[in-house]
Amino acid sequence: MPLCRCWCLESAAKTAALVRASASVTDHTLIYLHSPVNCGMNIQYREATPRDIPELARIRATEWQSEEYWVRRISGYLNCELHPQEALLPRIIYVATDADKTVAFIAGHLSRRLQCEGELQWINVMLHYRGRGIAESLLKQLANWFIERHAFRICVNGSGPFYLKHDAKELNKHWMIWDDIRQLVNSD
Ligand SMILES: CC(C)(COP(=O)(O)OP(=O)(O)OC[C@H]1O[C@@H](n2cnc3c(N)ncnc32)[C@H](O)[C@@H]1OP(=O)(O)O)[C@@H](O)C(=O)NCCC(=O)NCCS
Repeated sequence: MPLCRCWCLESAAKTAALVRASASVTDHTLIYLHSPVNCGMNIQYREATPRDIPELARIRATEWQSEEYWVRRISGYLNCELHPQEALLPRIIYVATDADKTVAFIAGHLSRRLQCEGELQWINVMLHYRGRGIAESLLKQLANWFIERHAFRICVNGSGPFYLKHDAKELNKHWMIWDDIRQLVNSD
């Protein structure tokens, strides 16, 4: 698949005014608007609502487990009924859509795990949308959400070239960490 950075980020004006401190997500909140240049995509970013859960479950289930499993996990997470270890209540899911089709999402929450202040819970981009910077945009939106809540030391379970590219460091065999997620946002 050709790498195709095919949109311009409109002014990152934004998350500050749009993101709510509460974990309840009931509004469709448009975060960034990307303008397609040459690949026919119109990727938009917004906060997830409960109506997104079936699509998010479908995306997760392409990697592991069943859609039913992920509907339970994601709805429990979003409704603050299921909690990752040492999670605090504030949490967020952002989705990326292409012409109303959900193509990617990221989830994160405040946390005390591993002496961190936040945790990246899930990030997934549908296969045919990879390599276009969608995960990077979602990661930066989540980073801004953390920064607004003064959460700078962020951990993520797992490893991989995507996290390495964005300067996460290996904490141990299972975890990577951003000592200061502000660097990720300031690196542009
Ligand atoms: C990891 C993932 C979220 C990246 O999404 P994406 O939208 O393709 O990511 P971006 O386009 O923003 O960034 C791509 C970068 O990630 C890195 N990357 C991601 N997957 C990679 C892979 N399989 N091999 C090598 N590099 C990879 C590369 O550094 C690439 O940089 P480049 O564009 O300069 O080559 C996506 O591949 C995915 O959903 N994977 C399955 C779920 C998963 O593994 N989630 C946990 C992340 S480890």
